[in-house]
Amino acid sequence: IKKVGVLTSGGDSPGMNAAIRSVVRTCAFHNIECIGIYRGYQGMIEGDFKEMGPRSVNNIVNKGGTILKSARSVEFRTPEGRKKAHENLVKAGVDALVVIGGDGSFTGGLIFNSEYDFPVMGIPGTIDNDIYGTTHTLGYDTALNTVVDCIDKIRDTASSHNRLFFVEVMGRDAGHIALNAGIGAGAEEILIPEEDLGLDRLLDSLQKSKASGKSSSIVVIAEGDKIGKNVFELKDYVEANLPEYDVRVSVLGHMQRGGSPSCFDRVLASRLGVKAVESLIEGKSNYMVGLREDKVSLTPLEQAIKGKSEIDRELLRVSDIMST
Ligand code: F6P
Repeated sequence: IKKVGVLTSGGDSPGMNAAIRSVVRTCAFHNIECIGIYRGYQGMIEGDFKEMGPRSVNNIVNKGGTILKSARSVEFRTPEGRKKAHENLVKAGVDALVVIGGDGSFTGGLIFNSEYDFPVMGIPGTIDNDIYGTTHTLGYDTALNTVVDCIDKIRDTASSHNRLFFVEVMGRDAGHIALNAGIGAGAEEILIPEEDLGLDRLLDSLQKSKASGKSSSIVVIAEGDKIGKNVFELKDYVEANLPEYDVRVSVLGHMQRGGSPSCFDRVLASRLGVKAVESLIEGKSNYMVGLREDKVSLTPLEQAIKGKSEIDRELLRVSDIMST
């Protein structure tokens, strides 16, 4: 290959910039040209490209967001959109693609490859950690630290007022953020889509918690939880059934996607970028680079999209024991 195109697509996540930097510098290291594609697949369709060299990625290893911007392109879902994108890549001399994003972005890459036989390599970038084939996606570790920091602060006020807080965290359909940040922040209960705790058990647990002498409580709820009530309805429900509780809700929202990446995410991004480019050089395509047992490894993109990233069920038990 002679020229790699790199793009970020879907929801941004801390560590994407570090991954762009790694891709650009690995290309330079191997004397391959590199262009940045702005706004994900939308920029591919519009030919929004910029030549990138090692100095164009100075001082971004520590920056949240993505200097290439991100988008969820509707047009790329059409054959016409992909045709335009392909023409632009050919015109610019790009002959391989590194896609940094989540499963939607990988699906786009896979379809593009099947239509144009264009080499594609994926780097998992999402705070949700919901991709099969890697124990960590880029941004997940940073998001966990952000959430724990927020809950620590909420705990201060919860305990001062003897209140119960429901804290809603992101994660789309997955409970990784809720489960791990919940344990890290010492939550009394954690509600995740993978495990239906049930309303009765929640009430029971809150009652026991009060009886055991706890004056304040934190319940972390994943946005994709399936308990059947949204976080505000849950507040009303608990207040109606347990009037002894003074309940507040905090929805953390998009602050979870921002901020300077943790050291873990920066190192991961650097490792994955190197592997992505070097795998393309070796002639590989249609893989996602990820981390398994702390080794950088390749998973076929199709598996990464279709497979399910399971939660660690032992953590549920740990959480139960910790809330004793
Ligand atoms: O996939 C990352 C994520 O932040 C999810 O956790 C969340 O459900 C979604 O994106 C929010 O998307 P948007 O930024 O489009 O509102």
